[in-house]
Amino acid sequence: MKIKKVTAAFFSPTGNVQKVSECIGRAAAEMLQAEYMEFDFLRPENRYDIIRFGPDELLVVGVPVYAGRVPNKILPFIQSGFRSAAGTFCIPFVCFGNRSFDDGLSELTMEMRNSGFAVVGAAAVASEHSFCESLASGRPDEQDMRAVRGFTERICEKILSAETTAGCTAADNGGSELILDENDIPGNTPPGPYYTPRRTDGEPAVFLKAKPKTDKEKCHKCMECADRCPMGSISSDDPAQISGICIKCQACIKCCPNQAKFFDDPNFLSHREALALSFGRRAESVFVL
Ligand SMILES: Cc1cc2nc3c(=O)[nH]c(=O)nc-3n(C[C@H](O)[C@H](O)[C@H](O)COP(=O)(O)O)c2cc1C
Ligand code: SF4
Ligand code: SF4
Repeated sequence: MKIKKVTAAFFSPTGNVQKVSECIGRAAAEMLQAEYMEFDFLRPENRYDIIRFGPDELLVVGVPVYAGRVPNKILPFIQSGFRSAAGTFCIPFVCFGNRSFDDGLSELTMEMRNSGFAVVGAAAVASEHSFCESLASGRPDEQDMRAVRGFTERICEKILSAETTAGCTAADNGGSELILDENDIPGNTPPGPYYTPRRTDGEPAVFLKAKPKTDKEKCHKCMECADRCPMGSISSDDPAQISGICIKCQACIKCCPNQAKFFDDPNFLSHREALALSFGRRAESVFVL
């Protein structure tokens, strides 16, 4: 069937999800000879509108896994921001930091289906952990990206070979064999509880209220961190001031050109160490189609 537009949508504080979303989106647009566009919903002002999708479109949507689920502060936008009345084809995917994606992919897939999309492929891509550079260091790497491109090609081949019937929704078109149901996706539907982070001594690591500190000697007030904070919590007058919620996404830490931002919360640091001790093996990515 003919797809006219491919949209790659992503929430990606430290860049892994964006890399995968753009790879799937661009490869799909090329194969399907469709228009390509991107939608970055990192910043709060990009999470207000509802975006509607038609029957001749493909939506690629990705988020990182936080505590085994879709990031809880982003979930309301995932639930309300994307709408399809026409069974628009959709590829939901998550990036996870070498521990586990738990119910992150099943939750995202369920939400896209609830918003009227027909899921034709889904993926969980092992990626460098934002807390800890030694976990899945440098991933998604060339091997991962080859697998992502192969997955995209196989979905596009299925879409291209599907029969079309005028007047039908995208989901009807090409028959239901393209479309995944909840049993195809690893994880629980509806999702189970959030994962509890642990310290090195095995006790729960409570760092909900932790916020990054700023080394004022190193900070040159470029405001990059204030621009990238997905919660809009870093003051644009004084980047050392974090006035709102911090989701520990690490965007401000990684984007700072002077390494001026850091976390010193003992529970956070202990959890980071516990992750490094327990999840050093190379985790497998999962592709479903
Ligand atoms: C607050 C937070 C919680 C996370 N929880 C998990 C998790 O439960 N399992 C996991 O494997 N990785 C976890 N990660 C790692 C991210 O899913 C991973 O680094 C992802 O690639 C980040 O995507 P981004 O680069 O697009 O921001 C977590 C990261 C953060 C910041
Ligand atoms: S990105 Fe770094 S140098 Fe720039 S304002 Fe933020 S803390 Fe300061
Ligand atoms: S202040 Fe918190 S939420 Fe904002 S960018 Fe930094 S880690 Fe992310």
